Amino acid sequence: MTLGDWWRHGVVYQIYPRSFQDSNGDGIGDLPGITSRLDYLNDGTPGSLGVDAIWISPFYPSPQLDFGYDVADYTDVDPDYGTLADFDELVSEAHRRGIRVIVDFVPNHTSDRHRWFVESRSSRDNPKRGWYVWRDPAPDGGPPNNWRSTFARVGSAWTLDPATGQYYLHSFLPGQPDLEWWNEDVRAAMNDVLRFWLDRGVDGFRIDVAHKMAKDPDLGDNPPDADAPGARRRDEDWEPAIHEILRQFRRTIDGYDDRLAVGEVFILDPRRVVRYYGDALDELQLAFNFSFLRQPWRAPAFREAVSLYEAALPAGAWPDYALSNHDHSRARSRYDPADPMRALRRARVAMLMLLTLRGTPFLYQGEEIGQADGEVPPERVVDVDGRDPERTPMQWAAGPGAGFTTGEPWLPLGREANTVNVAAQSSDPDSMLSFTRRAIWFRKSSAALRAGTIRILDPEPDVLAYLREVDGERLAVALDFSGRDRRVDLVTALRGAGVDARRGAVVLATEAGAAAATSIDLQAVELRGDSGIVVRLA
Ligand code: NOJ
Repeated sequence: MTLGDWWRHGVVYQIYPRSFQDSNGDGIGDLPGITSRLDYLNDGTPGSLGVDAIWISPFYPSPQLDFGYDVADYTDVDPDYGTLADFDELVSEAHRRGIRVIVDFVPNHTSDRHRWFVESRSSRDNPKRGWYVWRDPAPDGGPPNNWRSTFARVGSAWTLDPATGQYYLHSFLPGQPDLEWWNEDVRAAMNDVLRFWLDRGVDGFRIDVAHKMAKDPDLGDNPPDADAPGARRRDEDWEPAIHEILRQFRRTIDGYDDRLAVGEVFILDPRRVVRYYGDALDELQLAFNFSFLRQPWRAPAFREAVSLYEAALPAGAWPDYALSNHDHSRARSRYDPADPMRALRRARVAMLMLLTLRGTPFLYQGEEIGQADGEVPPERVVDVDGRDPERTPMQWAAGPGAGFTTGEPWLPLGREANTVNVAAQSSDPDSMLSFTRRAIWFRKSSAALRAGTIRILDPEPDVLAYLREVDGERLAVALDFSGRDRRVDLVTALRGAGVDARRGAVVLATEAGAAAATSIDLQAVELRGDSGIVVRLA
């Protein structure tokens, strides 16, 4: 069995650099900090996490109005994070350990401090004027259309530049002007940016708001129900332009061996997301599947999310899953904020699901220890869109800076940092971290999990179960969402899927001690409430 492309079977770990590891005591994480933690991520032994790739959120020069997603120079490193030499060192140290490096590419908008925009706004006839979306005011002097910023607090997506008397478009903050993607020079310049990083050895890109670049060229108003699922918006996802842009990126990336383009397509309808793979699978190799972010903690909800995604995928396209990221509440906090012990158990079940479904798992830093969203008092709030809690620093150890910094952290540390941290969990075989490591290393040993088929089983409504299979290896996964201990009849469920099996062995479990290589009767599988198991079928 060949596993195929690394990005299909590998585990990707998202690093939010500002909050991962500070190396110089300024309270802000940086690139040398990441390098110093590579052994934790994968030193080639099961004592490390074992991830195959890291995706690093933006570290480019930026005024940090949107913490790096406002890029002032696409081909350099912000002094907060280090230098290009630090980046080269990080890539070479990562590669030495077999860890691939994916960087964030932010093509929809630049910072208003980017020299392109500074030139563009300087006069109406500046050669860079057409690199951004400038329009005259509406007859009443207001914005050219009704488009709104994604950030609710911003309001209109247009800001008037009094000096030149025109409005410019910004899908996010006024400090993030949108590039004009109908302009061929913009397209060429941004493909050069990709080449700059490819030449430096990166293994791929996470493309920020990959659906936003193409807009209705007539800038028509959005319909009143623009936020409703299925609404035909005019400020994003404009076909066929978006597909041309992505095909061009892909051609650039395919000029190099073995690289990945994974796009953030924040559209919750799977049938629309999968269009970003391209009709000939010549656009994104992966489009982020965010369907788990909004599911209530119920087995049928996740079962349906998986089935819908699998059904929507074009032949040959590969799925992926994520539980959270720097924009969304952490799984640990989402699934039962009122009861911390239960929330941790559920976080393990969610992690087992992420690591055993068919598709590339994207882990967000801290998920492996069950880190919760931080509590950020009003005077420490720095993000315009309420996302500080999921960005509080990585909890490495007990003590004043949590092992993250020797200085004052840029965001407050999580309340549980002294107890929920890497050091405390590393040597405890029953910890979430030990469980996550076991699950990742087990996954590595299993072609069925990394590359096999999936069949959803239906043993009972509160249990999500599926079969992963590849020649000669069959694994059944059963996850309880109800909190009640139970006996599950997997024999009947498997038979429903056309599989005849009576005995198996529990090879991986969220509960300490539950995995035992002894033979069990599949007709009466003991499944504790809020737990999950993987059973190798005999
Ligand atoms: C999506 C990023 O994940 C988010 O953090 C950012 O604010 C927007 N895109 C704008 O770049």
